[in-house]
Parts: sequence; structure tokens; C-alpha cells
Amino acid sequence: MKSIYLYFQLLITVFILNACDSETKKSVSPTEVFADSVFDNHSYSNINKIRTKHLHIDLDVNFENKTVYGIARHEMINNGTDTAIFDIKALDIQKITLGKKGQEKETDFMIGQWDKDSIIGQPLMVKIDPKTTLINIYYKTTEKTEAIDWLMPELTTGKKHPFMYTQGEAILTRSWIPLQDSPANRITYSASVKVPEGLLPVMSAENPIETNEKGIYEFKMEQPIPSYLIAIAVGNLTYKKLGSNCGVYSEPELIGQCASEFIDLPKMIKAAENLYGKYQWGQYDLIMLPYSFPFGGMENPRLTFVNPTVLAGDRSLVSLIAHELAHSWSGNLVTNRSWDDFWLNEGFTVYFENRIMESLYGKEISDILALIEYQELQAEIIDISKSDHPEDTKLKLKLSGRNPDDGMTDIAYIKGAFFLKTLERDLGRQRFDNFLRSYFKTYAFKTVNTETFLEYLKVNLLEPNDSDFNAEEWIYKEGIPKNCYTIRSPRMENVQKLAKRFEAGENIFEEVKWIKIKGKKKRKKQIIRLERSKYITQEWQAFIRELPSKMDPALLKRLDVHLNFKDWGNSEIMCEWYLLGIKSGYKELRPSIEKFLMKVGRRKYLMPIYSELAKNKEDLNWARNVFSKAKENYHFVSRSSIQTVLK
Ligand code: BES
Ligand code: ZN
Repeated sequence: MKSIYLYFQLLITVFILNACDSETKKSVSPTEVFADSVFDNHSYSNINKIRTKHLHIDLDVNFENKTVYGIARHEMINNGTDTAIFDIKALDIQKITLGKKGQEKETDFMIGQWDKDSIIGQPLMVKIDPKTTLINIYYKTTEKTEAIDWLMPELTTGKKHPFMYTQGEAILTRSWIPLQDSPANRITYSASVKVPEGLLPVMSAENPIETNEKGIYEFKMEQPIPSYLIAIAVGNLTYKKLGSNCGVYSEPELIGQCASEFIDLPKMIKAAENLYGKYQWGQYDLIMLPYSFPFGGMENPRLTFVNPTVLAGDRSLVSLIAHELAHSWSGNLVTNRSWDDFWLNEGFTVYFENRIMESLYGKEISDILALIEYQELQAEIIDISKSDHPEDTKLKLKLSGRNPDDGMTDIAYIKGAFFLKTLERDLGRQRFDNFLRSYFKTYAFKTVNTETFLEYLKVNLLEPNDSDFNAEEWIYKEGIPKNCYTIRSPRMENVQKLAKRFEAGENIFEEVKWIKIKGKKKRKKQIIRLERSKYITQEWQAFIRELPSKMDPALLKRLDVHLNFKDWGNSEIMCEWYLLGIKSGYKELRPSIEKFLMKVGRRKYLMPIYSELAKNKEDLNWARNVFSKAKENYHFVSRSSIQTVLK
């Protein structure tokens, strides 16, 4: 035993040394698989020596213990190494065997130290021999498993059955499956999942549409994907088909609403295919998760996870679906090689999303959507420039030693998208679309870093067109370059004027018009009331944003009396309104804000609201109190982010 211990001691030393000079180190491997050897700062795995090709997972989902009992069976390509390193985070590893199922032999393993801030977890080092290709890890999840949200029935819509789901991106898959958790490696996977009677499990794979008696379900994902896209959800689920290759899963209570909200899904898929090539994943389904889901959507392949805040009732937030669908190309098909290249996933996706929206609903609408985003980008740039990491306004990031979540800002999303919009403007839509189509084709089922993209851009778009486009500035410099594409939207300007008139004290709620009636000399007076339906969600958002950040609460109240912003039901508008209300000291909003915070777990809304509340003492105390009641309703991802804000 002692010799093994020494062996691992040595290994850790070597490992740490490797990690230190990762920037300069270039190792060359003999075989093709290992040719593009990479080092990922957020993974301990030694994928340049041995890597998983196929993963089979046996899972037993136990709601009583809130535990997943699993066996991760790795089929690997071994480049002759005697140690395989996997990523784990707060997993209980029971035993590890080598060899085929039924002929397995136990082997030694060791779990390394946690990193300083407990971000990347621990290396799991397994003793193998240079010919080993089959490694089986027996494990169970723990209370500290961060990927999984276990919901008691009260937190679901139906309130009768429990629910669970996972969130893998960016580096949480390692907290529910021991694996090489780097986007630089792609694997196929299969699973055999046991769940309690009456519940249906679904995964980012080929899925069942109804429950069976045994409660055991088989899954397979035959296209190679990065590990952050492995996902599962289990609940009282029903399925409704929306088109020939698409549909939606949800609790039965919500299925009608989902079907109506997402009725345009088949059209979106067509539009996306017309833009950038055939959809490569067979089926495209959505699943409506409970409110605690920390994101609006997550692009798990074949099965996008969606937060119910998208159910606005009027289809006004479906650009989110366009976004997750677009990831089927940007992100899932062509994947960022490391989290420093995250903009390749999200920037392309926001650009693509906007193109889908344009083709379905026209340029006037897609321009409004993009402008709303641009406003957010400008605010974010100001915030980041004042922060400890002003360099985070560059597209290419350096997140070594930090949480990859730090890179999840509007820079990757919106600066990324505006970079591509600017390219489109300068090179012409047709050329740019052809370029993107060939980019997706060339790198399909591969991983790409920023440098590979830049080179491809130069060779295939800029040089052939004699363009001196400032791509390097966009990627490696802070802020927004001067040549950034600009959008003008008369409709937005119109609501902005309305906001100004309101600010100036005008009664905007009733407009007097004099109408001419046929055959009569006298005009007739008509009063037109300002209705919500006069403007779309994003116009109302622009209206709220145009108001000064400190308004007289009495004036804000008038808006609530006439339009009821505070309980509108549309999450985007409510969030925008609450932020303005908090800044203005409009205390009457508190019951509505509390209700929202108790119900919704989406980080995009929670973070700005809690952050704004944290800015003054009295609000902060109130926020802490609400959080103490609400935190059980949040997924780890949101809970931990908010905890930092409220500290
Ligand atoms: N892939 C992201 C969500 C994500 C990013 C999870 C990084 C974990 C780490 C997803 O596609 C996304 O961007 N969702 C957005 C919606 C989108 C319309 C901007 C969200 O959840 O708000
Ligand atoms: Zn996204």
C-alpha cells in the first residue's frame, strides 16, 4: 500500500508541475487522437494520455435519500499510460474496477486535494496498466453534489410528485458523474436509469415518451458530445409532439400552455436549417423544468431544458428557444475548447438566435431584440471596467484559477454577437452566411479555440475579400471597437419618447383624439387609453429603462395603477421594474418582489435584484431575510452566487 501511496505522491507532484507551465508546454503525441493535445485549466483529467470514447452510466435515482447511485463505465483510448485521471467534485467513490462487466478486477485509486477555492474539485487518480481501456467507477452522489436539484412535490406545478434535474455547464457534471470533465474531449454515451414508479426520466439523448412498469429506462446519445452536455431530468412528465421531429415534455398541468407558447418551434428549426445547414441531432425536444432552474434555458442536445419564466402567455420570450436551438450548431456541434473560448459558444449563438428571429418575425422585431441586448452590453462594460478584472471585457478570456462562471457575462454573449454582426455588415450577408455554413461544416463534432477560429476567418473570409477587418482588436482588446454595428429602431425611439413625456409629468395613459365622422362637420372626441398590448415586451422594457434611475415613488405608483407593472406576469418586465423600484425607494413593491424571489430561481433575474437590494442597509436586511426563506427553492448555482452578493 505504501508504495502505491508514494507512487501517487510523485504523480501529484508531476501533475502540479504540469499545471504550472501549461501555457508554454507543448506535448506531442504519436497517435492522431492525441495529436491535438490540450491543457484545460478547469480539468484535472489527463486527456492527452488517455481519453474516454464512450461512457455507459448505470444510474439509480433515489428520491428518498436524494442520492444517485451510479456506475460510470468508461471505454477509453489509452496512449500507454499507467494512470487515468478523472474529475470529481464531492462524489463518494466506492470502488473502481478494470475490465469488462462481469470480469472486473478491482484496482487502487487515490483522490487528490481540493483546489483552494473548491472550484474545480478533486483529481481521481486510478492505477491502470498501459493496455487498460475499460475503467468502471462505482460511486454515489452526496449532499454536496452541486449539479443536482432535488425538488419536493410542493415546488413543482402539480405539487404531487418530486422532481430532479441536473445542470452540467460549465464544470458541474463532475459532481454527479466521475469523468474527464473538459469540453476538449467528446464522447458518446449510453445510460440505464432506474427511477421510482410513475416518474419518467429524460436525458440529453434518445428519450422515452411514456413510463413503463419496471421503472428502468435505456438511453443513448450516438453523436460525440462534450461532458457538460450530459443531463437528466426526472419527474411526472408528459409529452406533446409539436412537429415531425420536435415536441415538449412538461408536467401534465403545463403541457397545454407549453404547446401553445412554443407553437412556432417547427418553423424555427426550418429557419435555422435554411441558415446554417441541416440539424444534426435527429430529434429536438424541450422540457419545461420547475421555476428553480437557474437558467432560462440550457441547450442539452436533443432536449433543451427551459425555465417556466419563458411562458409569458403571448410568445414574447420565445427568442430564448431560438437561442437554445441555435446552440445545436454553435456549441453542441462546434464546441468551445476551453472556458476561455466561451464566446465561441455564446456569441455565435446570440448572433444565430437573432437571425432566426429575423426570419420568423421580421427585421423590425429582431432589431428591437438586439438593441435591448446592446443596452445590457453597455451597462456590463461599465461594470466590468470598474471591477477587479477589467480585462474581462476581452472576448478571449484567461480564467485560470477562477470559476469559469466568471466568464458568463454579456461580453461572451453580446459583444461576441456584435462582432459577428459587424463582420456581416462589412463583408456582406451572403458571403458571411456562406462562411458560417462552411465553418459549422468544417468543425462539426469538433472543439475549437479562439485562435483556430481567427485563423479560419482570415483564410476563408478576410483574405479572399481583401478585408482589413480588425478581428484581433475585437478578440484581444478591452471594450467595444469603434466600428461596432449600430442599430436604429424607430419603434424603440417611440417608446423612449413616451417615457420622457411621462417623466415630464404628462398624462400618457389617456390620449385625446378628434375623429372625423363621415358626413358630419364636427369632429368627435375620442379618448384612447394606453393598453399593455400597444407595445411588445421589449418595448416596455425599453420604456422602463428610459426612466431616470431615481424616480419619485408616487410617479412609479401611477404606472402600477394604470398598467400593473409590478404583477405583470412577464418575468422580463417585472425584473426590470423591480430594479427601478428598488433604486427609487418605491417600498410598496416589496410584497411583489418577495413573491417573485420566492418563486423564481433563475439567476439572471435573482442576481441583479439581490445586488440592487444589497446596495443599502435596510434593503439588504430585508433581502437577507427573504433569501433565508427562499434559498431552499434555488438550485446551488443561484444560491451560491447570491450568497456572495449578500455577504
Ligand atoms: N448555455 C447557456 C447557459 C449556461 C451558460 C449555463 C454557462 C452554464 C454556464 C444557455 O444557452 C444560455 O445562454 N441561457 C440564457 C438564455 C439566453 C437567451 C441568453 C439564460 O439562461 O438566460
Ligand atoms: Zn447560450
